[in-house]
Amino acid sequence: MNREEARQRIGQLTAEINLHNYNYYDLSMPTITDFEFDGLLEELIRLEKEFPEFADPASPSQRVGGGITKVFRQVRHTYPMLSLGNTYSEEEVSEFEGRIHKLLGEETEYICELKFDGVAIGLTYQDGVLVQAVTRGDGVQGDDVTTNVRTIHSIPLRLQGDDYPSHLEIRGEIILPRKSFENINRKRLEEEEEPFANPRNAASGSLKMQDSKEVARRRLDCYFYYLPGDLSFATHYECLMAAKKWGFKISKYMVKCGNIDEIFSFINTMNESRHELPFDIDGIVIKVNALEQQKELGYTTKSPRWAIAYKFKAERVITRLLSIAYQVGRTGAVTPVANLQPVLLAGTVVKRASLHNEDIIASRDIRIGDLVYVEKGGEIIPKIIGVDLDQRPASAETVVFAKNCPECGTPLLRNEGEAAHYCPNEAGCPPQIKGKLEHFISRKAMNIDSLGEGKIGILYDNKLVTNIADLYDLRADQLLGLEKVYEATENKKEKKISFREKTVENIIKGIEQSKETGFERVLYAIGIRFVGETVAKKLADHFGSIDQIMKANFEELKEAEEIGEKIAWSILEFFREPKNQEIIRRLKEKGLHFEIHNEEKNLKSEKLKGMTFVVSGTFEKFSRDEIKKEIEAHAGKNAGSISSRTTFVLAGENMGPEKAKKAASLNIPVISEVDFLLMIADKRTGGQVGQAD
Ligand code: IVH
Repeated sequence: MNREEARQRIGQLTAEINLHNYNYYDLSMPTITDFEFDGLLEELIRLEKEFPEFADPASPSQRVGGGITKVFRQVRHTYPMLSLGNTYSEEEVSEFEGRIHKLLGEETEYICELKFDGVAIGLTYQDGVLVQAVTRGDGVQGDDVTTNVRTIHSIPLRLQGDDYPSHLEIRGEIILPRKSFENINRKRLEEEEEPFANPRNAASGSLKMQDSKEVARRRLDCYFYYLPGDLSFATHYECLMAAKKWGFKISKYMVKCGNIDEIFSFINTMNESRHELPFDIDGIVIKVNALEQQKELGYTTKSPRWAIAYKFKAERVITRLLSIAYQVGRTGAVTPVANLQPVLLAGTVVKRASLHNEDIIASRDIRIGDLVYVEKGGEIIPKIIGVDLDQRPASAETVVFAKNCPECGTPLLRNEGEAAHYCPNEAGCPPQIKGKLEHFISRKAMNIDSLGEGKIGILYDNKLVTNIADLYDLRADQLLGLEKVYEATENKKEKKISFREKTVENIIKGIEQSKETGFERVLYAIGIRFVGETVAKKLADHFGSIDQIMKANFEELKEAEEIGEKIAWSILEFFREPKNQEIIRRLKEKGLHFEIHNEEKNLKSEKLKGMTFVVSGTFEKFSRDEIKKEIEAHAGKNAGSISSRTTFVLAGENMGPEKAKKAASLNIPVISEVDFLLMIADKRTGGQVGQAD
């Protein structure tokens, strides 16, 4: 393909992908399959790489991310980002409407919109191209989050049509749909990270991430609701409709109202149906529609006089706290759970609420027998926010936190500085053992789908398996005929399981097949604390085998990418335990993969075998991730920090001064991108490459 053909094809692909994005994200009406879409995008990315002169900041390839923001630049807003006067009282909404009527002395039309519960964003478009995205900050200046915002599919990178103003500012709210929120939290829990409290916090945290590729994975969304500045429209509604035509996402839940009754009717309808929306809203915004009237009403120092936000009260009910149960998780953490008199809240019957830990129970003075207030905010699990002291029965009992594990009786421990209690009986406490087995067989670990929670329960109850290595000793004759009725955790429904011939055959086959699972997943499956999927992959890539990991000391572990002190300690502790060493020995004997195979790595060559690189700065031909992948593709290793074991520091533009100093002090050669390309292209190995300047 020559340059001209490439230019044309890039233009064509860009237009086509933009249209498909709009159809998919804004209209929810895709016209091609995901597979076809990915094909178009891949072609565009390939061409842009080959012909970088045609790279365009508005290219839809920006959606996949890759850019890193180290520090978010502070930017002053052209028009301050004001907040809205808000109220929980219907009376104050009526007063607002009365005040406006009096001030204007004429008929007024209102637009009622959703009040999106997310993070406010101000976008600037120059000649139809997104050039800047800034958070609200203190209203006067905010953070430049443009690179991250470009990954949000519903935000146009280039506007549609030709009648947009050459300079356009628009305001909206970045939100995280509840489904995406649940997925993120599920993953965080799996990786033993603190889950986000609600979608708003998750959206705000996502926007401030340094790696835009990570942001792209978060599936953020954005609705627009305001165009500051002088536009040639008569009403707010016309502004929004024009914005919609230019490609912005405008909610369909919006009404024109001529009087207060119509306003309340919309408020009530949305209050009742808000749980059916795929994202959180926390109220309704009421705005004067005519821009002329808005101008006349003006602003106070903080907010416009022409708008008000009516906020929904968090749904709260009162019910009785019947008892407290203690749940033991896979890692031994013990969580107190309130058993409540069942009560209807936000469309579901609530019977339980998390009480988090001992300190929270004490600080809220929660006693058994109390009438408690239960609330559902953005959170999935309802929480007890307080107690009705006036109605406290004389018989209410102070909570004495469990001293022993409810499952195995072992005295519970609480580490200094930590809020949680935990059961230290890792190898003998049933939920911990079963939890570890369930983790081991799970889809992302060994993926033994012929086993599941119920079947693991039977195997454990019959003393056939008490640890993950026992699975590989199972024989068909031990399993045939076993059965059990059990209560499924996901829906508390009773299920009956019986091990007939076919079931047993599948179980044995599934276990046998799992021996083919690659090292990184085996490493994740064995259940080292804090070693989630991503960390396991980094460890596997860096060390190559379990033997190397077991040999590594604290410092050596920390040299691997993304391995901090907490994870390094946890790995050391795991392998120090003789029981774990024995399990690894048995699993090895059964033939599980405990090292990376070259085919698995899909190596291009072994030119960099035995070399460890520290990558620093930015590169011309590669993004940082790409150059690291290239190192691995030639059998080299990446390390996060420079040490005496580093072979080369691969330096791009703007290498950090600290790194340069450290490399010099340890006499580690610093090589350039060109040196590196020569190393992997040539027959020579890296030995002959000199220092870069
Ligand atoms: S209009 C000058 N409309 O609520 C008025 N704001 O409490 C600009 N918000 O900072 C704001 N939904 O982040 C407007 N439909 C909506 C909104 C909305 C959510 C947020 C926005 C603002 C905050 C004010």
